[in-house]
Amino acid sequence: MPWWEQAVVYQIYPRSFQDSDGDGVGDLRGIRERLDHLVWLGVDAFWLSPIYPSPLADFGYDVSDYTAVDPQLGSLEDFDELVAAAHERGLRVLLDLIPCHTSIEHPWFREHSDWYIWSPVDGPPNNWVSAFGGPAWSRDEQTGRWYLHSFYPEQPDLDWRNPEVVEAFQGVVRFWLERGADGFRLDAIDRLIKDDQLRDDPPASGTFPLPLRDDAAKLRRIYSGNRPEAIEALGAIREAAGDALLVGEVFQPTSEYSRYLQVLDLVFAFEFLFSPWNAERLRAAIGAAAELRRVAWLMSNHDFERLATRVGPENLRAAAMLLLTLPGAAFLYQGDEIGLANGPGADRTYDRAGRDLMRHPMQWDSSPTGGFTTGDPWLPAVDPAERNVEAQLDDPDSLLHLYRRLIEERKHLGEPFRLLDKDGGIVAFERGEDEIAIAVTPKPS
Ligand code: GLC
Repeated sequence: MPWWEQAVVYQIYPRSFQDSDGDGVGDLRGIRERLDHLVWLGVDAFWLSPIYPSPLADFGYDVSDYTAVDPQLGSLEDFDELVAAAHERGLRVLLDLIPCHTSIEHPWFREHSDWYIWSPVDGPPNNWVSAFGGPAWSRDEQTGRWYLHSFYPEQPDLDWRNPEVVEAFQGVVRFWLERGADGFRLDAIDRLIKDDQLRDDPPASGTFPLPLRDDAAKLRRIYSGNRPEAIEALGAIREAAGDALLVGEVFQPTSEYSRYLQVLDLVFAFEFLFSPWNAERLRAAIGAAAELRRVAWLMSNHDFERLATRVGPENLRAAAMLLLTLPGAAFLYQGDEIGLANGPGADRTYDRAGRDLMRHPMQWDSSPTGGFTTGDPWLPAVDPAERNVEAQLDDPDSLLHLYRRLIEERKHLGEPFRLLDKDGGIVAFERGEDEIAIAVTPKPS
């Protein structure tokens, strides 16, 4: 059985996990200092949200160099030390690979402009919209030509039909594997390849089961993304990755996932993540995803409402139980194990799409910065006096201890998995001999 099949993977948002040098931003050395937290929890691996140099238009998801570490987060030597320390403790390390687009400040954009997607006319050639709202085409002031960006204008899309792009990425994958990475979370890969004729997306029919911005919700994304050709392109990443773990972020309904699973090991179960906290809807989302057998269950990440805010504090124990008893891999976002809710953001806005709230620092102790930094944190702590790792360690009934117990006990859950029909707000299923029943209480409004 591959190591990841039943793994628990802990998502670290590097800027907000632990600062080691007092500049208010988390870093790789800080992560190394906190690895024993992950060991205590019993997780198998951690995924680092991007650590590469970035002008931070999209907080690391706009990469300006794929084979270096952002100086604010550390150096390649720090990365090597982190990997060594993780491996010594039996923890595997996953990196975030962002193949769909680079930063507009990546030297490739000027040196290899044919690696990007340009409009053949003077203006947008079609109706495609960006994930953050507005047209997916912007004018490059230097050349006057229009380029495609599926996300922010600072993130021009690469042209994966160009074999040089494919080769460059295979090189990036090999670079990190040689440095000890154990796998990758692949960012936004349903946007990897677009229609070669740049046809208009048709109007949406029916509702898309995942949240979209208004203008994106009006279109059926069949030409601007989710192309069948993406599977071949991903095959090239697989070829370079060998048997390293590849987890795909495919922002599509569950029914689309099986194609991607031809080349990927896991895909995130987004319909499960976005299911209303309601037994019937959860059961439907679980049933469809569980049939694929290779989904990564998740209840939050750095992009969407934090778990405690979404389901309410009274449901946190049930949510933990659900996440960690479903069959297959589970991803856990830093802070969820102590019940951290959305924060208020800061005086200045960092992320234009409003995601600062989900990225506040980890709370290790009750001090004003939660032990995250000795300096001035880039985003303030939310409520360290009420919620922190140290206090919950001292309390065997805490949420933190529950997470640890569930991570330990899930190793003994059997197969097969079978969903049961139960009324009364209960999600119930069998795992081999065991029957698990979780009461899902609607969040008070
Ligand atoms: C993914 C990331 C998100 C980022 C986007 C563009 O959805 O999770 O944070 O903004 O891709 O790279």
